Amino acid sequence: MTELLSVSTSRRYGTLSPLRYPGGKAALAGLFADILTGIGIADPTYIEPYAGGAGAGIALLREGLVSKLVINDIDPAVHAFWRAATENNAELVDRVLHSPLDMDEWRVQRDIYRSKPKSIIDLGFAFFYLNRTNRSGVLNAGVIGGNDQRGNYKIDARFNRTTLAERLRAIGSLSAKIEVSDLDGRTVIKRYGRDPCAFLYIDPPYVQAGSQLYLNSFDRRDHEALAKIVREVSAAHWLVTYDTSPLIERLYRDLFQCRLELNYSARHPGRANELLVASSSVGAEVSRLQSLDATVA
Ligand SMILES: C[S@@+](CC[C@H](N)C(=O)[O-])C[C@H]1O[C@@H](n2cnc3c(N)ncnc32)[C@H](O)[C@@H]1O
Repeated sequence: MTELLSVSTSRRYGTLSPLRYPGGKAALAGLFADILTGIGIADPTYIEPYAGGAGAGIALLREGLVSKLVINDIDPAVHAFWRAATENNAELVDRVLHSPLDMDEWRVQRDIYRSKPKSIIDLGFAFFYLNRTNRSGVLNAGVIGGNDQRGNYKIDARFNRTTLAERLRAIGSLSAKIEVSDLDGRTVIKRYGRDPCAFLYIDPPYVQAGSQLYLNSFDRRDHEALAKIVREVSAAHWLVTYDTSPLIERLYRDLFQCRLELNYSARHPGRANELLVASSSVGAEVSRLQSLDATVA
């Protein structure tokens, strides 16, 4: 029988990902730092098979708490952004500092994004531009302030060039420690499953919200197939977060589960309740932190 615990998190390390991501999990970095310390993995490799904004991973790498970061996302535009950030960093920073922030440029970048260019820097920057100028960072949500730009917040409201350039340069300086791929998440989980120095943070598209928020949503069979692969992980330490759903509780029955109370989520400002499922090693740490009543903020 699974015990339900409650863990509160908040942003110990602030926001360090350049991307705004619906449901982004930067707030979990503090909890992950405590878990990694508790387990005591030497030179951990931190892997996000469903990375999106990779908010927690970037924070852990910048803090020197993990030795290597694997950012995997099957969405070609997300992947292009991370490739550009690590391989074309100076060019990406230059575009962030100098591209106009107006509706003409927004339309140019939207058309580039829609045309799915082969160029990593063009697709990566178009994705980034729309992510920073659209409502909630959602690519098909429309521009902040509307097409007529008459709202209180306008196209540049979430595009502080200096802050974004700083976050991107920090990623560029760490690029030797970052591996970027666009594989199916399950392939990545299999690849690292036998590595005792690997810590996998698995944040797949959700059961309820997934289809509206992300380009790639999961159906029931995808959730089942993922659970099967996660159950086969033999040595790596892992943690999955999901929306609370009877399907997920059933798929991961017999494994460590607890409720996760997030103080912040991009979609629902305020508190959000999620389900956390974990390997026995990670589950033991979460229980220990809970019983200590430690602040995991
Ligand atoms: C819930 S979001 C991850 C949010 C992320 N944890 C963050 O903090 O920003 C899920 C991500 O999984 C990606 N995705 C969907 N299906 C995938 C698949 N089969 N393999 C890899 N990535 C996938 C989506 O493109 C999306 O970026």
